[in-house]
Amino acid sequence: MPERIAGSISHCYLSPIMPDITDRTIRAPGPDAPITLDINLETQQTIKKLLAEYGDIVKVHNPKNKDLSYLITNPDALKHVLISNHSNYIKGPGFERVKMLLGNGIIVSDGDFWRRQRTMIQPAFSRKNILQLCEMIKLVTQNLIPKWRKKAETGEAIDITTEMSEFSLEVILRALLSNDFDHLVIEQGGNPFAFLTEDATRDLAVAMKFRQSGKLIQEIIDTRRDKNQEGEDLLGSMMAATDKDGKNMSDKELIDEVMTMIIAGHETSGGTLNWLWYELSQNPVAEALAYGEVSSLVSDNNISTDQLGALGYTKQCINEALRLYPPVWLFSRKAVKDDVLQGYSISAGSNIYLSPYFTHRDPELWAKPNEFHPDHFINDGANLKHKQAFIPFSAGSRRCIGEYFSYVEMQLHMAIMLKLFKLDAVPDQQMEIDPGINLRTKNSIMMQINLR
Ligand code: HEM
Repeated sequence: MPERIAGSISHCYLSPIMPDITDRTIRAPGPDAPITLDINLETQQTIKKLLAEYGDIVKVHNPKNKDLSYLITNPDALKHVLISNHSNYIKGPGFERVKMLLGNGIIVSDGDFWRRQRTMIQPAFSRKNILQLCEMIKLVTQNLIPKWRKKAETGEAIDITTEMSEFSLEVILRALLSNDFDHLVIEQGGNPFAFLTEDATRDLAVAMKFRQSGKLIQEIIDTRRDKNQEGEDLLGSMMAATDKDGKNMSDKELIDEVMTMIIAGHETSGGTLNWLWYELSQNPVAEALAYGEVSSLVSDNNISTDQLGALGYTKQCINEALRLYPPVWLFSRKAVKDDVLQGYSISAGSNIYLSPYFTHRDPELWAKPNEFHPDHFINDGANLKHKQAFIPFSAGSRRCIGEYFSYVEMQLHMAIMLKLFKLDAVPDQQMEIDPGINLRTKNSIMMQINLR
């Protein structure tokens, strides 16, 4: 494999100036002036300029950190950090903010504790277990039908952003708590986690409110323990799981993991469905092809779980929404020891910023980088130029645990609803990206619903 040119603007793969990978002093190119990297629009625009000027590995002096930072979008470099040399990289800056929300759940934990938790949680996400959730996912989807029908009849537009956020929140809560979710709603006079869909900010006030909701999970755990019934849901699997010493998770660990699943499993799928409905409304050919696929597979507002594999084009559309709008658009790692990344030296303590958003829009990797073009994923992604060109769920050992869950959820939702409804974006809406912890639309998207 020929070497890359360090810092080339395009990704030219042949150059007379090749960094000597044995020389550990070569630093990646980057600006001298300090630059603050955060999760906001300004940072996103800054990253775009830096990548255009310095190439796909950029050194940045971040005034918030004494250690150097590196922005990487090059798929070989992503592979190195996330897979080949993953043990050298722990979670990086930004995760402390997530810790306020999630305690020490598996998204933020590291080392032996993370490994223990992941090993205990993983079985709950087996294909067999996720497929058992299909009936519930279909029911939550079907429950939307009367409301959407009414909107179609009255001509009133629907806020698809909130709708998808509520949908995915209900799905993950039911997956975690099954019937205890219904008991909670009755006791609390409504979904006690609904505030997550009403307030998109994840500031200290929301974090405090969310953490307090952990008490509700504690009560459910207590009741289940009293009855000696763990329950056949994600919480039940986590309660029953034991580590290599035969020990269960403590209540605090269980609560942190449940809270992690609520946040990780709701905003990501809900946001993707929001973007997908919008993109289908803008791309009539893709919409017609997706409709063509589901129309023969769905009948009586239902689809057999055996047909999930037949929803190939629907999955291509989901992947294309994940490519253009990866919910986790920027995440970070910290180097434990010195390393060499694509020929550049990385000192211990350096912060690594990985951006699926920019890798997913790299013209060297994608035929139509900024367009909604589901054919990018034809043949189930067999034609991708690089395996790490598409990393909405990250890669390697810290890859998203809920990947299959979210595909099943999104495919079933789209199949049932696309068969019945065609959605058109209300004209003259400002469509702006809000790159926070997750990549959202700045304003809710309003959709006109039409019956087929
Ligand atoms: C469109 C849907 C989703 C996307 C794009 C997504 C994306 C991601 C990404 C990028 C990571 C890795 C972060 C990192 O390495 O720093 C991650 C981790 C994680 N995700 Fe997801 N996710 C989605 C859905 C879900 C769902 C439905 C659940 C749970 C039901 C979930 C639970 C988790 C958990 C627990 C982790 C941490 C895994 C670990 O570190 O061991 N995610 N997700």
